[in-house]
Amino acid sequence: MLLEIDKLSVSYGKAVALEEVSLRVAEGEFVAVLGPNGAGKSTLLKAISRSQPSTGKLEFRGQSLHALPAHAVVGRGICHCPEGRRLFPELTVLKNLMLGAYLRRNATAVAADLAAVYNLFPILEQRGAQIVSTLSGGQQQMVAIGRALMGKPSLLLLDEPSVGIAHRLKIEIFDAIKRIQQGGTAILMAEQDAQSALRIADRVYVLEHGHIGREGTSAELSSDDYIRQAYLGVG
Ligand SMILES: Nc1ncnc2c1ncn2[C@@H]1O[C@H](COP(=O)(O)OP(=O)(O)OP(=O)(O)O)[C@@H](O)[C@H]1O
Ligand SMILES: [Mg+2]
Repeated sequence: MLLEIDKLSVSYGKAVALEEVSLRVAEGEFVAVLGPNGAGKSTLLKAISRSQPSTGKLEFRGQSLHALPAHAVVGRGICHCPEGRRLFPELTVLKNLMLGAYLRRNATAVAADLAAVYNLFPILEQRGAQIVSTLSGGQQQMVAIGRALMGKPSLLLLDEPSVGIAHRLKIEIFDAIKRIQQGGTAILMAEQDAQSALRIADRVYVLEHGHIGREGTSAELSSDDYIRQAYLGVG
């Protein structure tokens, strides 16, 4: 198993944000975590990337991540594209992308991955020298995803990649994310857009109030009455 989580809990002071969450991601799999505001989606991704302390089983390729600091997690192959993008707005597109490769020493491999990011998001190549704050929200999200890819992840963590983005760009971004998976990278994506998540993910976990309620394949959950009513607004 690539990522194996069992009974993972996170508290902020006395407030419990995640309680005994269990979840798995296989090599190359696309898994979505669906849930409303405040459900604990970002907390879960932060616990995996070790930017938030947690308790419980948290293993990547059979090894516990608990002892590792956040930068070492990147070195293991887990790259986090965080909520709100967290770019350097006054730096260029290219500089932001290259920051994702800061741990890597093989310049040839880094150049090849930059070419792959530009192939995925051609607009970023045209805008390479542009200051990030002048890009649209959708283009900035492409930079954030591209920067995470520059760390050469075998597991890419995506936190609500479609939030606040115009419909046309949203479709383009989800299509690009699907292509990232098709290139062999496993994906764990937090998302509130149930329709898009169920369309592109292999499996989905529903996180509500820090607990996993339902889980199943996208096909299973798409026909689940509760999911249809609460998340798809039908049935
Ligand atoms: N730094 C923090 N300090 C205290 N409480 C926090 C902190 N971050 C998150 N929380 C609380 O933990 C719970 C889970 O928050 P989290 O951000 O993980 O949810 P989310 O599912 O990502 O929500 P959203 O969809 O709005 O991004 C919420 O009740 C939130 O208020
Ligand atoms: Mg969040």
